[in-house]
Amino acid sequence: MSDLPDRISVREVGPRDGLQNEAPVPTEAKVALIDALSRTGVGRIEAVSFVHPAAIPQMADADEVWSRIDRVDGVRYSALVPNLKGAQRALAVGFDEMEVVVSASDTHNRKNINRSTDESIDAISELISTAHLAGATVQVIVSTAFGCPYEGEVPESRVVAVAGRALRDGADSVSFGDTTGMATPTRVTRLVGELRSAYPDAPVNLHFHNTRGTGMANVLAALQLGVADFDSSVGGLGGCPYAPGATGNVCTEDLVHMVEDMGVATGIDLDAMVDAARTAEQLVGRTLPSQVLRAGPRIPSGTRAGA
Ligand code: COA
Ligand code: ZN
Repeated sequence: MSDLPDRISVREVGPRDGLQNEAPVPTEAKVALIDALSRTGVGRIEAVSFVHPAAIPQMADADEVWSRIDRVDGVRYSALVPNLKGAQRALAVGFDEMEVVVSASDTHNRKNINRSTDESIDAISELISTAHLAGATVQVIVSTAFGCPYEGEVPESRVVAVAGRALRDGADSVSFGDTTGMATPTRVTRLVGELRSAYPDAPVNLHFHNTRGTGMANVLAALQLGVADFDSSVGGLGGCPYAPGATGNVCTEDLVHMVEDMGVATGIDLDAMVDAARTAEQLVGRTLPSQVLRAGPRIPSGTRAGA
């Protein structure tokens, strides 16, 4: 397969996106998971979020988690924030990289952030200036970018308009979040194409959930478009035990296994990531959706195509 990126950057989001959708786990277990992930070679970890503790009780101990982990040189740690207050909390404890989330669909943004999409976007420019003044970078994650669980279709023009406003307001990059796993390769190709037509140089990350089994196909479609920045979660963490049918992000070790075999480097040691996935299973106390964890990380020698 030609024209794939030589290398991609993976942001491990299990400690935040994964654990916020699991039954609460003790602080020390979160610290152990992040410490295991820090030693896998992964380049970026979204460690915590600074949101209202009543909205997401699983992240109420974000400050303590952050202060207790062993930060490894060469790993970029970031925090997700919903508003200026969250950004200030992140800056106060020394984060220099953050993601601010806004949904392209109004109904989802109201349920998640208690604001209309426009109200959230209007507040983003002050958040970005505050972060930049403190020397931190800001990525704007546009959620429900491939569809909304309440509103259904979300026009690509609307998603790109939200991303565009963020970029004009100084966002360092944007991300398209497939919040409830509605993306398909066709939708990925269309949305990335629309963004590139309007903002050819905008750095873009893609955040897929495997809710309907399209996660890896979406990654492949994006790779073929030259996208080289993906979110994933160890073990596929994130399937809420209380929400039937919910599943987590694209699984990190499944992603690493697939792309590395295709000649796309991730910098991640697959065995170490599989070990971290075992740690993740122990801490949530259930079987996670990871396929590579079940099957084993190795393609037996001699069975590989061309060998
Ligand atoms: N962290 C902690 N507290 C916060 C906060 C933050 N990021 N943002 C606001 N608050 C506090 C305010 O200081 C205020 O406190 P006070 O009553 O003691 O003065 C109170 O919350 C209400 O502030 P307000 O701005 O009216 O917030 P809200 O009630 O409208 O809630 C959010 C808005 C964004 C804080 C809340 O909906 C939220 O945390 N959502 C995040 C959801 C999430 O994480 N989803 C998953 C990730 S995509
Ligand atoms: Zn997510």
